[in-house]
Amino acid sequence: MSTAAEVLARCSELDRFSLHRTRLERTHLTPQHAQANARVAQWMGAAGLRTWQDAAGNVCGRAEGRTPGLPALLLGSHLDSVPDAGSYDGMLGVLMAIAVAERLATAVASGELEPLPVALEVIGFGDEEGARFGTALLGSRAVAGAWDDDWWDLRDRDGTTLHQAFLDFGLDPRRVGEAARRPEELVGYLEAHIEQGPVLEAADEPLGYVTSIAGARRFRLTVHGEARHAGGTPYARRRDALVGASEAVTAIERLARASGEDGCIATVGRFVVHPGAVNVIPGRVELSLDLRAATDAARDAMWGDIEDEVRRRCTARGLRLEVLETHRAAAVRCSPWLQEAVVQGIGATGRARPPGLWSRAGHDAMAMARVTGTGMLFLRCAGGISHHPDEAVREDDVAAGLDALQAAVLAAAGRHAESRG
Ligand code: GLV
Ligand code: MN
Ligand code: MN
Repeated sequence: MSTAAEVLARCSELDRFSLHRTRLERTHLTPQHAQANARVAQWMGAAGLRTWQDAAGNVCGRAEGRTPGLPALLLGSHLDSVPDAGSYDGMLGVLMAIAVAERLATAVASGELEPLPVALEVIGFGDEEGARFGTALLGSRAVAGAWDDDWWDLRDRDGTTLHQAFLDFGLDPRRVGEAARRPEELVGYLEAHIEQGPVLEAADEPLGYVTSIAGARRFRLTVHGEARHAGGTPYARRRDALVGASEAVTAIERLARASGEDGCIATVGRFVVHPGAVNVIPGRVELSLDLRAATDAARDAMWGDIEDEVRRRCTARGLRLEVLETHRAAAVRCSPWLQEAVVQGIGATGRARPPGLWSRAGHDAMAMARVTGTGMLFLRCAGGISHHPDEAVREDDVAAGLDALQAAVLAAAGRHAESRG
């Protein structure tokens, strides 16, 4: 039951747990999240893992090693999605982890493999994308002990606070700290994920290892102007928030592009015009800004340039700019010993020199790096497409990925045991 075909079938099955009948949208602490957790827990149970839902809504499973209570090598990824998502971003990593746990349990039960010198845990994080509350990595940051009580007042688009969403999901907000893991309980964290970019495909490589993950910041920018009559207000008296916001968008792209191929990436993905009527000059525009770069310094310098430029343009048009930072995650270097374990894992599939990539996409591994060492295995995806229903991954790549992840687990467990003498 732990073949690549089975993993892909399970990815498709999870598509059913969506807000919409024909497209995937599964966000944090929703009924669809609960349904996905329940199904994933069943699969974990079938793989021989003891399962539970933690105090932050993540679904977890554990198999003991050669003695009960050993520190755990944690494998995982996320089960939430962006709106109109593909089937593999996050889910593939969780389901590959379960498949590897099952294969290892079978090998131990048949006597083909010695019991592991570590416990093995699998975790399906409830929020990585931040699609519901704007702040990302809520699941993994709870596990990493990086919860911030300011987040309780975050609201979704319907006005529901994160605090209320916890209660609605059957979680006790006062107990969120219980999801936090202590460094001494953990050996490390390994995550398999589709690349979400074109590098592996261009290099004709099915698998790669991650060297580091981009630092990210997200903002909500509001441009305030004046809503007035579209016909009666002469240009000299207009303070059109939409024209100012549009200038901001093109300036943001120009500045980020100028930072070069390996520089900053900036995206405005949400743009809301108020009051949104054909015959009213837009009085207010809200736009999101997502910024990423290989280093926090490059990202922060880019934000400085963007803020100066957008303020200057707003001022020139008599507009006011309001800035709210909604998310910040530091750039993270994957642990050298787990990078090596992943390289060794890929080596077991016959690729001795796999490519090392820095990830422009964010991952739960960045949050987990606060509490333990992290390593990531990337799988090629078709056209580098992600955050879209056309996301696709080849079955033979998933088969190679399973072999590589399994070998990486054994390499990491072995290295850990060696380091303990
Ligand atoms: C997560 O997918 C991200 O936005 O990087
Ligand atoms: Mn994603
Ligand atoms: Mn992801």
